[in-house]
Amino acid sequence: MNILITGGNGYIGSHTYVSLREQFPHAQLVIADNLSNSTVKALDNLKKIVQEEILFHNIDICHEEILEDLFSKHNFDAIIHFAGFKAVGESVDNPLKYYNNNLIGTLNLVKLCLKYDVKKFVFSSSATVYGDRVSPIVESLELLPTSNPYGETKAMCERILMDVAAINPEFSVSILRYFNPVGAHESGMIGEAANGMPNNLMPYITKVAKGELRALNVFGGDYPTIDGTGVRDYIHVMDLAEGHAAALAHLKPGTHIYNLGTGKGTSVLQLVDTFQRVNGVRIPYEIVGRRNGDLASVFADVSKAERELQWQAKRTIECMCRDAWNFEKNYVLI
Ligand code: NAD
Ligand code: UD1
Repeated sequence: MNILITGGNGYIGSHTYVSLREQFPHAQLVIADNLSNSTVKALDNLKKIVQEEILFHNIDICHEEILEDLFSKHNFDAIIHFAGFKAVGESVDNPLKYYNNNLIGTLNLVKLCLKYDVKKFVFSSSATVYGDRVSPIVESLELLPTSNPYGETKAMCERILMDVAAINPEFSVSILRYFNPVGAHESGMIGEAANGMPNNLMPYITKVAKGELRALNVFGGDYPTIDGTGVRDYIHVMDLAEGHAAALAHLKPGTHIYNLGTGKGTSVLQLVDTFQRVNGVRIPYEIVGRRNGDLASVFADVSKAERELQWQAKRTIECMCRDAWNFEKNYVLI
């Protein structure tokens, strides 16, 4: 099997490379990434983990001719498509940057799949496409508008893939809707390298633990949840990575949508408590007002992925907190 991993040098893509190598030891894995949100250091560390040279191409997938050149040289069997921008706030401030990168990249890939007869496609989507729904969330729910352009790009890419699969009976698409990926490879060599001010909870906690930020602002203490703080379905990035290998192994014609989460909700304060306990560090926090657009409680129904992909998230919240901190405390940006 010959697999193209777009955005394979990023947070989730690099962990997925590790899982694919374990699951498909003889596959040829090719990364296409323009390093717009990842570093050469991450690539070097990935090489050390998998102990092999990596077929890496520094290309922008929005550049159709360059991407076509790659397709013409490799006989790809499958695409795993991570490349895209993902910061919700930035997408509100700069919608065209998001519509351009996320849509053009996906359109180019799909066109070239049809032209070069690549029949398997795995797409990184997000639970954000569900909008405001009561949890646990099942895949069959109709999508609601999301509150930001990033979420809209995910919903549009899903639609493009579904429509193309509908008229190309051999095209097999797996849409993976991630809940909240956190943690890092157990080696601590690859992880989520947040540049600048982190937007998401776990990278913020690790920066506070490191002393780079003074205290965590907990957005809202009056939600109808166990302790008043927001509840989410955190999933260890290695479990998520293994979910991609399972999705690829079980691909079948048509479009198939899977939630990748644990099915369990954890509140902000529960996550902070666990982080402090397993890592022996203190996380000062204060409860502030709610963040615009946040929901009280979001967690997945994961029964479809368990049933059809024979995949289940195994790693605990303790493991997520330990591995996130193990990566952050060793991580130096270059
Ligand atoms: P990331 O930013 O760490 O990785 C994305 C990679 O794609 C980066 O290495 C970046 O350099 C590359 N890239 C971006 N645009 C490109 C382009 N035009 N051409 C080539 N390379 C390009 O992000 P991630 O957290 O690994 O997320 C991967 C995918 O999963 C994204 O599509 C994201 O929207 C989706 N997703 C992420 C989360 C999350 O919490 N991390 C949740 C849901 C969905
Ligand atoms: C966010 C994105 C979502 C994306 C997901 C990826 C928003 C509105 N949504 O989801 O589109 O798919 O990341 O993982 O950005 N929190 C704090 N203090 C902080 C940061 C977060 O209290 O400094 C709280 C939030 O209010 C929320 C929880 O922590 O209750 C998780 O937040 P976050 O990590 O940003 O993820 P989501 O909001 O679920």
